[in-house]
Amino acid sequence: MRALVLTVTCLVCLEYFSLLQSIDISSPHAPPIYRQCESRGCSDPSTGRSTYRRHVLQALDIDKLRMVTAFASLSKNSSNISTNNSSGVKIEGKGVDELPQCPMIPPGLHGRFPVILDSLPSMLEMEEGETELGLELGGVWHPPGCKARHRVAIIVPYRDREPHLRAFLHNIHRFLQRQQIMYGIYIVEQVGSTPFNRAMLMNVGAAEALKQHDYQCFIFHDVDLLPEDDRNLYTCPIQPRHMSVSIDSFLYRLPYDDIFGGVSALTVDQFQSVNGFSNMFWGWGGEDDDMANRLRVKKLFISRYPANIARYKMLKHTKDKANPERFKFLYSGAKRMTKDGYNNLKYHKENFVLKRLYTWILVDLPRLKV
Ligand code: BGC
Repeated sequence: MRALVLTVTCLVCLEYFSLLQSIDISSPHAPPIYRQCESRGCSDPSTGRSTYRRHVLQALDIDKLRMVTAFASLSKNSSNISTNNSSGVKIEGKGVDELPQCPMIPPGLHGRFPVILDSLPSMLEMEEGETELGLELGGVWHPPGCKARHRVAIIVPYRDREPHLRAFLHNIHRFLQRQQIMYGIYIVEQVGSTPFNRAMLMNVGAAEALKQHDYQCFIFHDVDLLPEDDRNLYTCPIQPRHMSVSIDSFLYRLPYDDIFGGVSALTVDQFQSVNGFSNMFWGWGGEDDDMANRLRVKKLFISRYPANIARYKMLKHTKDKANPERFKFLYSGAKRMTKDGYNNLKYHKENFVLKRLYTWILVDLPRLKV
């Protein structure tokens, strides 16, 4: 008889507890610990309202529990974030500031890894498979479970290279996530068929990225270069860093000492102190050399990782027409530096979309006079 009473009491308690938890998780004010979502997210895209309601006892497994414990201690003051753990489960939390800092040396690096170029998915397929990357709209990512030491905007000047863009996106997100940095990808596309102005697009990217997030570091990145070693950290050290030191198509050798093209890193402060890139370089060549001159004027030095780490694969393309005026603008660059660059930048923003894998900025660039 006693055993029967005990069993019934236990069942009633369990049911009561169960009801309480169901109420908790359906409340928008429930602590983040209960608001667990499937990897596709919590909300119904048509209504924007939360759809996923699961009993907390069903949700417990060791992986998720670890994240739950981390998020339970989050502060109330900090801003909303959405992140995921290694098992792909999204957890809405507050207060990234309260997380422990990510380790100085990211623990998940592979070193040299094979760049994926075969059987690339279509852009649509890639976007649909995005959930496993745990991105925020605009191709923004925060490492789960720790506070990133670096907030980095990856700025990619772009026009008419869709296959390259797919290869870039397919490889770069996984590469960056192993480095545990907070990052956003900005694809800045030039409209029309006037000569390509790589430098001006990078200025636009910097301006637009800073409107979105509080970045500390810019990585200016050609879309046709894919890193081959994840020890090549996409961060900004004390001095500007030229990242693409050894490229397969240059036989993994640096063409000349002052080269600053391909992929390069500048802190936001360094970028502003040199007044960004010159806006005067239309067509191929010279704009990166002009930046190297600006750095020299400001007594900054180009730093580099060793060539066996800063390795890149270059995707095949036809070479753009070189700009015959590049030498003229290079020679007079230092004189123009204070009035030609970030501070006289003008552009017409034709489109701006927070896509799933990146932020897309379509711009019409005017010819500026200095
Ligand atoms: C150009 C640079 C370019 C470099 C490597 C130089 O002649 O001026 O813009 O990055 O060659 O291709």
